[in-house]
Amino acid sequence: MKTSSQLSPSNSFKSLPRATTSSFLRRLKLIFRPIDYLEDYGKKFGDFIVLGNSETPFVYVNHPEAIQQIFTAKPEVFETGRGNGILRYLLGENSILLLDGVSHRQQRKLLMPPFHGERLQTYSNVIYQITQEILQEWKIGQSLLIRSEMQKITLRVILQVVFGLEKGKRYDELQKLLTILLDSISSPLSSSLLFFSFLQKDLGKWSPWGRFLHLKSQVDQLLIAEIEERRSTGNLSGEDILTLLMCATDEAGEPMTVAQLKYQLMTLLVAGHETTASALTWAIYWIHYQQNIEEKLRLDLPKLDNNKFLEQVTNLPYLEAICQETLRIYPITLSTFPRILKEPLEIMGYEFPAKTVLMPCVYLVHHREDIYPQSYQFKPERFLEKQFSPYEYLPFGGGNRYCIGNGLAMLEMKIVLATILSQLKLKLINPRPLKPIRRGLTVAPPTNLKIKIVS
Ligand code: HEM
Repeated sequence: MKTSSQLSPSNSFKSLPRATTSSFLRRLKLIFRPIDYLEDYGKKFGDFIVLGNSETPFVYVNHPEAIQQIFTAKPEVFETGRGNGILRYLLGENSILLLDGVSHRQQRKLLMPPFHGERLQTYSNVIYQITQEILQEWKIGQSLLIRSEMQKITLRVILQVVFGLEKGKRYDELQKLLTILLDSISSPLSSSLLFFSFLQKDLGKWSPWGRFLHLKSQVDQLLIAEIEERRSTGNLSGEDILTLLMCATDEAGEPMTVAQLKYQLMTLLVAGHETTASALTWAIYWIHYQQNIEEKLRLDLPKLDNNKFLEQVTNLPYLEAICQETLRIYPITLSTFPRILKEPLEIMGYEFPAKTVLMPCVYLVHHREDIYPQSYQFKPERFLEKQFSPYEYLPFGGGNRYCIGNGLAMLEMKIVLATILSQLKLKLINPRPLKPIRRGLTVAPPTNLKIKIVS
């Protein structure tokens, strides 16, 4: 990767065609028709979609080579935290998503260990037990909204894995309030609150923004109460992530403050359950929408040994391929976090100036016909036949911002799917082709998607 001082003559990005639609209209389309928005631009502009003015261009990047150059550039070349400013009100200004430089690196170092290696495997049993708990509530013949069921599972998993919270008043309250808080900004219309700052007016609890802020402060209070209670009782013997974070120290030997803990907990709660719930909903949809997928997957399930169920489900190649294809065809985030250039950078022969906002576009890369032939078809086999590079397959982003929870999300998907399918037979009500719709800053299956429990 070359920076401008070492560049051989390159083309200015200005030689690339540029979209001229007004920023307001673009945002409206991004909110209400996100997939058409990207596909229309992708068809028209190809590998680089240049938007905005020439001083501060905003560029979707859809070529794996360009994405490789971005993911492998020195992290100091970019500011990412500032680009995530839209999340400030939800996660708090010191959430890892809003940090850069040394503080980002330090928080990442503290947050990564609980999500990796042997530690990760210890969550398998929690995921399995919670799925069983939800399945106990399901009755044969009943129709269910898949998303809300999946969200119950993923929220309970994250509450237990992150807080080690056993059922009780605070657990119930957090579960209820987080669901209401995230629902308050999830429909395409209410998501506009996040995209347009002029809508962010606190006109009291009954106004949309006022309600959001009120709910957020209630969640904050619960988080702080939990942290302070642990501190005061000295109860730091649990195996949950909050305990690990409370015991961890940075390079200077300093523990995290209550405020830092609160920001990171909120981040893990939000980033960790909505995304996985959407992925699971899609997976259930695809498995039942295309009958051959269910049949093929079911061939593997009876072979599972009860005593080694959790170990074996995480090693089923076809199940893994279903999860990968689910996250390919309709990735949960259409692009990675924005990378704002602090200095000029050459990418595939084009020089982009400082202040350019670069957005590796997960959705458009995942639909490149040269990498994924018949990209609109759900074909898990492609992941059994070929290994894709991290610049061709990037549902969890990449580089120094690569998703911390990718291992937990994949583990959860596999265990939940295998547990449900090995006990029940489901059927989609009104099977039909679907496209993702906006859900806050992500995209997701429609919330009214239903299944029937057949047997
Ligand atoms: C299917 C589920 C998930 C998807 C699709 C997903 C996707 C992503 C993506 C695309 C990024 C941005 C990466 C970039 O800009 O290069 C990200 C970052 C992040 N994710 Fe996830 N994620 C998922 C689950 C989780 C879970 C379960 C957790 C934790 C409990 C989590 C925690 C995070 C955090 C903390 C970051 C910020 C990393 C940083 O700024 O350094 N995610 N995720």
